[in-house]
Amino acid sequence: MAIEPLPIRTVESPGFDDQRPGTSGLRKRVTVFQAPHYLEHFVQSIFDCLPDLNGKTLVLGGDGRFFNREAIQTIIRMAAANGVGGLLIGCGGLLSTPAVSCLIRKTGAHGGIVLSASHNPGGPDGDFGIKYNVGNGGPAPERLTDAIFARSRELSAYRIVDSPDLDIDRQGVDRVGAMEIRIIDPVTDYAALMETIFDFDRIRDLVTAPDFSMMIDTMHAITGPYAREIFENRLGAAPGTVINAIPKPDFGGQHPDPNLTHARALAAAMFGPSPPSFGAASDGDGDRNMILGPRFFVTPSDSLAALAANAELVPGYAAGIVGVARSMPTSRAVDAVAQRRKIPCYETPTGWKFFGNLLDDGRISLCGEESFGTSSDHLREKDGLWAMLFWLNILAVRGIGIAEIMREHWREFGRCYYARHDYESIDAAAAGRLIERLRARIPALAGSQLGDFTVTLADDFCYADPVDNSRSEHQGIRVVFGDDARIVFRLSGTGTAGATLRVYYERLEVRPQNQDEDVHRVLAQLYAIAESLAAIREHSGRDQPSLIT
Ligand code: G1P
Ligand code: ZN
Repeated sequence: MAIEPLPIRTVESPGFDDQRPGTSGLRKRVTVFQAPHYLEHFVQSIFDCLPDLNGKTLVLGGDGRFFNREAIQTIIRMAAANGVGGLLIGCGGLLSTPAVSCLIRKTGAHGGIVLSASHNPGGPDGDFGIKYNVGNGGPAPERLTDAIFARSRELSAYRIVDSPDLDIDRQGVDRVGAMEIRIIDPVTDYAALMETIFDFDRIRDLVTAPDFSMMIDTMHAITGPYAREIFENRLGAAPGTVINAIPKPDFGGQHPDPNLTHARALAAAMFGPSPPSFGAASDGDGDRNMILGPRFFVTPSDSLAALAANAELVPGYAAGIVGVARSMPTSRAVDAVAQRRKIPCYETPTGWKFFGNLLDDGRISLCGEESFGTSSDHLREKDGLWAMLFWLNILAVRGIGIAEIMREHWREFGRCYYARHDYESIDAAAAGRLIERLRARIPALAGSQLGDFTVTLADDFCYADPVDNSRSEHQGIRVVFGDDARIVFRLSGTGTAGATLRVYYERLEVRPQNQDEDVHRVLAQLYAIAESLAAIREHSGRDQPSLIT
């Protein structure tokens, strides 16, 4: 029987000029997205920039934050009106960001739409976001996000069908007009992928051993169901190992960002009197991770380096890793591993989209960012639970604890003491002036002596992609003191209010007897140098950072 096409309605849009995607998609306050036509305008702009969309399948899901369900229904109606052939939707409208990437790759979908503002708070007064991922499973490259923004500035109408809300809470196949909709379990395919990478038998032996305990904090966010299935059901960890496991639209009123400040319950347990052997947390949409040992915090930069150094212990990487990449502000700890192993190490701008080409071209196996993101060529997003499983697999094989592994690592490669200072929601114009002033000082900096340090390089980081030769300029001001130390200044591309200044500090210590110092004491002189270079207090109007990670 022929399917009657649904009548398509063309709706005039008032026009919006603020839909420029940032580091990771378009992020705004929920109230902005709730304004009439706002979401529809952006979704139409995405569809208009996908010339081959007709008849194709898209993956659709989000982290369950407030407005997720409404947005899913709107996108279903718009997809039907724009000739999309099929939608693959996580039951309840839920899919973690890595699971979207996994599904796009596994099913050969044309792309996917992720509804998330990652680690930003949710709820009616929180943030919402939308991001398009392309056929390799990764975030749209800059040329596409630029095109979407350009389209959003000229668009005056969007297409939608009138259809009742679809039941997204029941698995199965449905239709809206000619478009087929499959509602699938959000966890199954992702968990299956993890089983192909890691030695689940060995990890099960570790986590069920009587002297081993762990705590996984999923922060009332999307990875709750994933972590329960993988750690508790498949690996046999004790029930209750996963805490804050039920995704809530407002993340329980918390900030779903896995760091020592926001993952409070976990941090309290891991630094308390009888800490579990392993602790980890993931963020709103499941792509970030924090790894902890008993009273021991692994910086994300160190985590990437340790994964690279131990990769061959994991079945999925037993054949060796071909290369690594890190975002520019990430510490150079992984560079030392790459150098020793004689494999390439790429330095990319902040944001996961820059790793896509390197992964697709087979140049790297592992990559990561200082902002609690690590992943590999198994998909094209960062992947929080993957990082936890990677660590557990290493622990299972090596039979020693996290702190021992890291201390051994530092003895071999040196320790990069590292900290990031964020000045959140500061005046955007003043933040711009701070960066301008630094930029103006760059030419005079090289060769100059600042305290104990000599500047060997000062620049505004520009990245030339070795695969497609595209260039990305103004990616952050670097002040480099040889291998010894480095300070990086950049403005966030994910904030939704004012500007956020991020200042990144690192200092290398190769002497083993000096590798157990307090990080802020070691970096104190660099903090003072940054203040003298950038007048942070004056420009930010703040005496101290609002967040230190
Ligand atoms: C931040 C992080 C960056 C990460 C992005 C998305 O971007 O710094 O590493 O890729 O969130 O999770 P920023 O706000 O610094 O532009
Ligand atoms: Zn995230």
